Amino acid sequence: MSIQRLGIVGSGIMGSGIAEVAAKSGVEVILRSRQRSSADAMVTSLEKSLAKQVERGKLEEAAAKEIAARVSATDDLHALHDCDLVLESVVEDLAVKRELFTRLDDIVKPEGIIATNTSTLPVVELAVATERPDKVVGIHFFNPAPMMKLVEVIAPLTASPETVEAAKAFAAACGKDVVEVKDRAGFIVNALLFPYLNNAVRMLESGTASRDDIDTAMKGGCNFPMGPLALLDLVGLDTSLSILDALYAEFRDPNYAAMPLLRRMVAAGQLGRKSGSGFYSY
Ligand SMILES: NC(=O)c1ccc[n+]([C@@H]2O[C@H](COP(=O)([O-])OP(=O)(O)OC[C@H]3O[C@@H](n4cnc5c(N)ncnc54)[C@H](O)[C@@H]3O)[C@@H](O)[C@H]2O)c1
Repeated sequence: MSIQRLGIVGSGIMGSGIAEVAAKSGVEVILRSRQRSSADAMVTSLEKSLAKQVERGKLEEAAAKEIAARVSATDDLHALHDCDLVLESVVEDLAVKRELFTRLDDIVKPEGIIATNTSTLPVVELAVATERPDKVVGIHFFNPAPMMKLVEVIAPLTASPETVEAAKAFAAACGKDVVEVKDRAGFIVNALLFPYLNNAVRMLESGTASRDDIDTAMKGGCNFPMGPLALLDLVGLDTSLSILDALYAEFRDPNYAAMPLLRRMVAAGQLGRKSGSGFYSY
């Protein structure tokens, strides 16, 4: 099945970026948030991003208008009934996502694919919350979606080869490099990345080095574009904690056991860029 109409559920960090990428590839996009104002804010943020690209000479004004015209916003889940693909990107919480999948299963046309942008959760658990487990797949974009080249396609045991192929074709049409990975917590990137990020928090907490020196060291010493603590702020400390907890629950590897400092910062509402403070202030 080729994807002509995409529904995106969730108005967090990831939603509008994925919408931009998909709309640029010619797909019609409907953004759904529980609150109309949040859905409208996603469209505004997408329009701002396009306007910046026009300003910088990276996009023609007419093209920006065409892309924006492909995107609409709603607070009604039923508006997604005719989508070929619905990709959810709500909070990293299995119970919330399972309930959403069951609701989407009742709404989305029977041949439609329902996908998750989860960073770590078992995709099969979402598949079996529906009556169409063969049409459920993981499509994991990276943050910020318009800039990051990679998409991981996660094939749960239940997915049909056609569903996996359709998900890969969609991500490739979005201009992404696509990798396929089995349904294991963290997939490829986060399973390898998060022990490193967690150990950076350990190093800060133990007083081995300062925040700035840890980030400077990893930028200068490994040629990484940003340091681990700045990256945690970008991802969101709450999302990072959920990722570590899911990895630890699956593998029981101590490198995945979230550092107390990270847990306390989340409890304090210091979630990184999205809340205005984390390891840095914004
Ligand atoms: N942040 C990243 O770097 C990143 C990267 C790739 C994938 N992801 C994944 O994308 C998904 C969303 O992450 P995000 O960073 O955009 O999160 P976020 O915290 O920015 O946004 C979460 C969204 O979920 C919504 N939400 C919260 N509770 C809900 C509920 N009970 N029912 C429905 N919606 C609810 C919120 O209103 C918000 O729109 C997660 O699965 C995350 O793992 C995140």
